[in-house]
Amino acid sequence: MTPKALMAEAVRARRLAYAPYSRFPVGAALLTKDGRVYHGCNVENASYGLAVCAERNAVWKAVSDGVTDFTAIAVTARDGRGAPPCGSCRQVLHEFAPNAWVYWRDARGRILKRRLHELLPNAFRLEELRRR
Ligand code: THU
Repeated sequence: MTPKALMAEAVRARRLAYAPYSRFPVGAALLTKDGRVYHGCNVENASYGLAVCAERNAVWKAVSDGVTDFTAIAVTARDGRGAPPCGSCRQVLHEFAPNAWVYWRDARGRILKRRLHELLPNAFRLEELRRR
């Protein structure tokens, strides 16, 4: 799937964003190794700190569906607003897919891309747990 096509899915995901407090709707489209796409949007709360980002909601959906192999994620806020994933989402994505491509758009709408490990070098991992 092309970055452009995955970004179009992120735009669709953004339509369901619940962001009445920030008025900053975000959509994410997470591409799995077997070609499925999971949508995520940000979901806010009257208790502001409970907001969950679009990217993490997409990851939670996929993982709770038994899918943990991701190859790419596209993220978008409204046109003209760049939205690379926040630090918390980078950490959550890195857990499953350090090599995944991350696509976002700059203020002019051009798609930018980086590997997740480039966006989060020296990520925290519990290596001893992973060996079991
Ligand atoms: N947000 C995301 O959904 N993804 C990000 O990577 C950064 C921020 C959301 C959280 C909150 O609902 C709104 O954007 C403003 O911070």
